[in-house]
Amino acid sequence: MGSTPHVSDSRRKFLRYLALSPALASPALLKASGWNVFGSAMRGGKILATAETAGLITSAEQALDVMEFEAVARKVLPPAHFAYLATGVDDDATVGINHEAYSHFEIRSRRLIDVSKIDTSIRLLGTTWETPIFLCPVSAMKAFHPEGEVAAAKAARSRHHLQILSTVASSSVEEVTAARGAPVWQQLYPTNDWNVTRAIIKRAEAAGSPALVFTVDLHNDSNRETIARARRVDDRDCSVCHESGFAGYARTKPMFDGLDLSKVTGLYASNLTWDFVKRLKDATRMKLLLKGIVTKEDAQLAVQHGADGIVVSNHGGRAEESLRPTIECLPEVVAAVQGKIPVLIDGGIRRGTDVFKALALGATAVGIGRPYGWGLAAFGQPGVEAVLAIMRRELEIIMGQAGTPSVAGITKAFVTPRT
Ligand code: GLV
Repeated sequence: MGSTPHVSDSRRKFLRYLALSPALASPALLKASGWNVFGSAMRGGKILATAETAGLITSAEQALDVMEFEAVARKVLPPAHFAYLATGVDDDATVGINHEAYSHFEIRSRRLIDVSKIDTSIRLLGTTWETPIFLCPVSAMKAFHPEGEVAAAKAARSRHHLQILSTVASSSVEEVTAARGAPVWQQLYPTNDWNVTRAIIKRAEAAGSPALVFTVDLHNDSNRETIARARRVDDRDCSVCHESGFAGYARTKPMFDGLDLSKVTGLYASNLTWDFVKRLKDATRMKLLLKGIVTKEDAQLAVQHGADGIVVSNHGGRAEESLRPTIECLPEVVAAVQGKIPVLIDGGIRRGTDVFKALALGATAVGIGRPYGWGLAAFGQPGVEAVLAIMRRELEIIMGQAGTPSVAGITKAFVTPRT
């Protein structure tokens, strides 16, 4: 497959944006504006050749960093499927800013500390994990590889990571739990019909999920132009797999199997309020986390309403074009919860140093989404395994370099805002 027209579209749009804003044409902004999503990487102020121009990796173990999988994914996926993973909303600026914002924080390394043993393990809601890096819920992963979430689960199993499964996964919670060899956490899109919400909860509980992750950051349609543009140029017959209407959509999402969807109009309900959190709490014995909290006010409300955890997230820049990166939301959320519940984060994490900075700013665990989608698209299970191994290796390197042999030692003293 050659280069995809939607990629050129996005690049043209981006260049137009830069032309209109010459003062903003800094390396940071280039990256923030999604350049890395669609083209060459900007590093150290120079445009370096990437896999796109210098040759794609041909096996997972060749990858030096997780971005190398993106180039392969772009090449191997149909335009609309790659764009589904890549898309943000409006100008996709929040997607880029999520990552770019990590460069606003510098690491304050300490010296002459025994780092001969690095321990990346964490405790999260009563469970010990070997690493703070978890797999975010990503929907419809068979769009990226025929084995979809099952391949991701096998990788999570072999590398010992927590996996959160999307309500709209293309594999069921039972299949994924079997592939993971242990329960996964269940993400929840409640729909607008409580009977459906309840059935999803009961199914996840029956599969042994210990935690329900309620996504609170999507109400209505989000304005996803990148995918809409890609659809125009994708010459496959999408109707073969994508039927119209909610029931048609749900047919490829096993979590809806056997449910009466006649009253469902969408994955989300725009009239939900904090009362719904209580309703969920009353309906399940699973721990309840709220995903999509980005302010101290909502963090306090989450605690008041009995949430067991928070995921600071802006849906990978796919909800609203807030231009507010999650790493900048994290400190106020952490301060607001006062250690009462764990705070997780996702959005823009591409390097072990990003994980380190998030931990330093108070995150208990750090999620990745697109990177493991790229790994899956590129090489299936080995691709996801390689992404997880790279992220973990990079985290271990920076923990050693910074003088923090354990995660508990990674405190805010180890980061400072760039001035
Ligand atoms: C689903 O969660 C999406 O962002 O497409």
